[in-house]
Amino acid sequence: RPRVLSGIQPTSGSFHLGNYLGAVRQWVALQETHDAFYMVVDLHAITIPQDPAELRAATRLAAAQLLAAGVDPERCTLFVQSHVAEHTQLAWVMNCLTGFGEASRMTQFKDKSAKQGAEATTVGLFTYPVLQVADILLYQADQVPVGEDQRQHIELTRDVAERFNGRFGQTFTVPAPYILKDAAKIYDLQDPAIKMSKSASSPKGIINLLDEPKASAKKIKSAVTDTGTEIRYDPQGKPGISNLLVIHSALTGTTVPELEEKFAGQLYGALKTELAGIVADWVTPFRERTQEFLADPAELDALLAKGAAKAREVAAASLATAYDRVGLLPPR
Ligand code: TYM
Repeated sequence: RPRVLSGIQPTSGSFHLGNYLGAVRQWVALQETHDAFYMVVDLHAITIPQDPAELRAATRLAAAQLLAAGVDPERCTLFVQSHVAEHTQLAWVMNCLTGFGEASRMTQFKDKSAKQGAEATTVGLFTYPVLQVADILLYQADQVPVGEDQRQHIELTRDVAERFNGRFGQTFTVPAPYILKDAAKIYDLQDPAIKMSKSASSPKGIINLLDEPKASAKKIKSAVTDTGTEIRYDPQGKPGISNLLVIHSALTGTTVPELEEKFAGQLYGALKTELAGIVADWVTPFRERTQEFLADPAELDALLAKGAAKAREVAAASLATAYDRVGLLPPR
């Protein structure tokens, strides 16, 4: 079985619709056909300041949401990044193989650091993509299911893996991004020029999966649409309507052309009303299931401990090989 690995930050509390459609939905599908490793990346979260108690709660909440979405610990390895120390250990080696200029070109870093200012930006945020490189390479992942915004980090991972292999001999699998065309980028409902995101979207622009279903339905209904009336997929001319068509298609499995045909001759309101109902119907059981998994934190923690033990086996072997190849003297 080919191997996949991916991660999601716990920071946001609730996952949003972009996280689900861009990434988590693919995770659920891939666990059937791949040897899958999925993790909550709490170490990535602390690259920006976090309240300790909130971070701990958010990490459990993220795991509960993954389970509610259908990530199944019987079919994959689900764990918390900080439970497997090898991530930070390999990250150091990878830091020493990554160029300063190369890291400086990461657009997510440039965006976030520009917003925060140089003094508030941590070195951790700068080296965040290199920790992600280590995450992926430790598991010898063949593919990495993510949304479009992570493509550059996967490219970096490929470059660093090839560099390591070139310098020290074949050690790491060079991973490919697994980015589905259809839902790789879900846009903000109020500003379809930007992606739906916790940090950039206004509250009305983002569908948080744990919000009241009624509130989410209302946000869909008041999504910004374009001039004109025709319901047609045209990301340039009709970015708002196209985004709604993509979301509808991803949640229902109806293709976009089928939707165009179905809504031919109807006004934007018809699509919005139907999609509002679909989103509300989807989030209702999701919220309930998340609460069920959260209700028993001891069981949740036990399940994550099991996942970490499985992950550690793979990670430890990769790290030992990498340390050896680099020439670090093994302890006696
Ligand atoms: P994060 O936590 O920001 O996002 C989790 C996943 O959601 C996807 N995503 C989207 N997809 C479509 N449309 C959107 N609007 C949208 N917003 C977010 C992201 O692409 C991502 O797949 N650095 C990563 C976490 C990470 C990781 C890894 C991923 C750490 N180590 C190793 C893969 C492999 C991040 O911050 O994702």
